[in-house]
Amino acid sequence: MPYEVRGVIARGEGREVSVEKVLVPDPGPGEAVVAVQACGVCHTDLHYREGGISDDFPFLLGHEAAGVVEAVGEGVTGIEPGDFVILNWRAVCGQCRACLRGRPWYCFATHNATQKMTLEDGTELSPALGIGAFLGKTLVAAGQCTKVSPEAPATVAGLLGCGVMAGLGAALNTGGVTRGDSVAVIGCGGVGDAAVLGAQLAGASTIIAIDVDDRKLAWARDFGATHTVNSRENDPVDAVRDLTDGFGADVVIDAVGRPETYRQAFYARDLAGTVVLVGVPTPEMTLELPLLDLFGRGGSLKSSWYGDCLPSRDFPMLIDLYLQGRLPLDKFVTETIGLDDVEESFAKMERGEVLRSVVVL
Ligand SMILES: NC(=O)c1ccc[n+]([C@@H]2O[C@H](COP(=O)([O-])OP(=O)(O)OC[C@H]3O[C@@H](n4cnc5c(N)ncnc54)[C@H](O)[C@@H]3O)[C@@H](O)[C@H]2O)c1
Ligand SMILES: [Zn+2]
Ligand SMILES: [Zn+2]
Repeated sequence: MPYEVRGVIARGEGREVSVEKVLVPDPGPGEAVVAVQACGVCHTDLHYREGGISDDFPFLLGHEAAGVVEAVGEGVTGIEPGDFVILNWRAVCGQCRACLRGRPWYCFATHNATQKMTLEDGTELSPALGIGAFLGKTLVAAGQCTKVSPEAPATVAGLLGCGVMAGLGAALNTGGVTRGDSVAVIGCGGVGDAAVLGAQLAGASTIIAIDVDDRKLAWARDFGATHTVNSRENDPVDAVRDLTDGFGADVVIDAVGRPETYRQAFYARDLAGTVVLVGVPTPEMTLELPLLDLFGRGGSLKSSWYGDCLPSRDFPMLIDLYLQGRLPLDKFVTETIGLDDVEESFAKMERGEVLRSVVVL
């Protein structure tokens, strides 16, 4: 018997989302159904609604979630009903060329559920990032469930399922930030502030937060930024150089993902420094840079998929840090909302009023 639950659906480019009845099949081999307890609203959900990721409408939104395993399919080991899990969107396969070379965080063949969740009329849904968790119960591949301590509240744990992990990992894993580094972060939403926090955890001595919104900059300070720059008022490249003895930062993280912010990141970086692109661009965006600058400035230009995380390694460890009071994840939760409030939360995100709105189910 399929489960009947309510979920947030995006039906077409630019159209407001609607809450509709969704049919969720019983888990098949290798699959699990998870009763979602909380799911954060990430900017990527808005990208989906706007057709910025693909045009496989209708989408079932939500992908930053935690909940309790409801049922598992045949052959599933490692999780069982009742387990508290964070859903991840990179369930590594263990067999592709990246996994076999010992770099599973790049896995090129990550697992999702094989069966489809549908609308009442049978229309197949495309779950955002293979999750779809603005939904009472969702169907995923069992490997997408990462067991963590149930002592952490779901509102906080779910954030590690996407934006906060992406930001922390952009600094810690992709950027390789280490003690004494100077770091600049462009765009201080949920992802950017997590990058600021990651830089602080790693012991960076200078952390420059850059945004166009003063409210966001105040929050970034609270996560550990030592300096802030409003890039509407001041040139961010000059500002970063001024704050780093004229050199530029060792690591610059672009958590916006636009050609102009990438260019700022590229030039705000010291020679041989690192640029990390964690913000997601849209298909029409292009970037032009003098090739000689690319050569002459050296260093590395990296993209960060999900903060190069390994959910099985990173989620339990970060939840433990949170429970020890060493990772202030609560500060990311600006408000908790219901399924019917997701459309309004996109507007709040665009107006810069929230770091994370978290849907509680
Ligand atoms: N790489 C990944 O794995 C991954 C994971 C999650 C999210 N993302 C992406 O990261 C980006 C940020 O997500 P979020 O949820 O933090 O979004 P958000 O909307 O909460 O934050 C974006 C921030 O950027 C600021 N901003 C916008 N334009 C700017 C500009 N020109 N210069 C400086 N700041 C600017 C905004 O004021 C806001 O504070 C999105 O593109 C999202 O899709 C990537
Ligand atoms: Zn793989
Ligand atoms: Zn996300």
